[in-house]
Amino acid sequence: TATIGIIGAMDEEIHQLTADLLDGQTFQHQGSTFHQGRLFGQQVLITKCGIGKVNAAMTTQALLSLGIQKIIFTGVAGGVTPGLQVGDIVISTDLIQHDVDVTPLGYQLGLIPDEQFSWNADEQLQALALESAQQIEGIHAVKGRIASGDQFIASKDRVRWMHDTFQVAAAEMEGAAVAQVASKWGVPFVVIRSLSDTADGEANVDYRSFMPLVAIRAKSVVRGMLQRM
Ligand code: ADE
Repeated sequence: TATIGIIGAMDEEIHQLTADLLDGQTFQHQGSTFHQGRLFGQQVLITKCGIGKVNAAMTTQALLSLGIQKIIFTGVAGGVTPGLQVGDIVISTDLIQHDVDVTPLGYQLGLIPDEQFSWNADEQLQALALESAQQIEGIHAVKGRIASGDQFIASKDRVRWMHDTFQVAAAEMEGAAVAQVASKWGVPFVVIRSLSDTADGEANVDYRSFMPLVAIRAKSVVRGMLQRM
């Protein structure tokens, strides 16, 4: 059967999934820890990548080298689209890297030379994630562009800049690295982020209060997806 790779950046983002794993076994591979087993009828490999694009890229490469066929990233993000609120869910349409700047050499802001500007999430996985989110009582879910960078965003100016410059819906620190690596392997992926804050002046406080609560929402979406596959 197909193996689905599930990645989260932190323990809070994967814990409930590893807890439900049947016939689970844990092993090390290329510097990352993997939890293998059955989850809601699917063969899965769950891993925590750690924070930031380098960790995310490294773990994605290790996961792909184990032969998985699909990647689902679950976690929290800061909301960027005006009106989005803590607890809302953003499902990636595509991902960009907002901290890339090679403009002095004439390249578009956010573009890594000789790479694509954004990486598209798989349409079927997006649809499945949205359908699964809409089944969860009281959850507001949208599809949108997700921006990643090695920065915790906590200013209204930065949020406005990100929205106006890149039409971003949510900001986080790993998704686009997963997307870049998975795209090179030709493996479909989707990023599901529940909003822990709105990336403004209160983001640090909101993040600490809401992160453990809202991370559960993103995991519920993943659970629903696995049940529907
Ligand atoms: N993850 C959750 N909130 C975030 C923020 N404001 N910036 C970057 N990553 C985040």
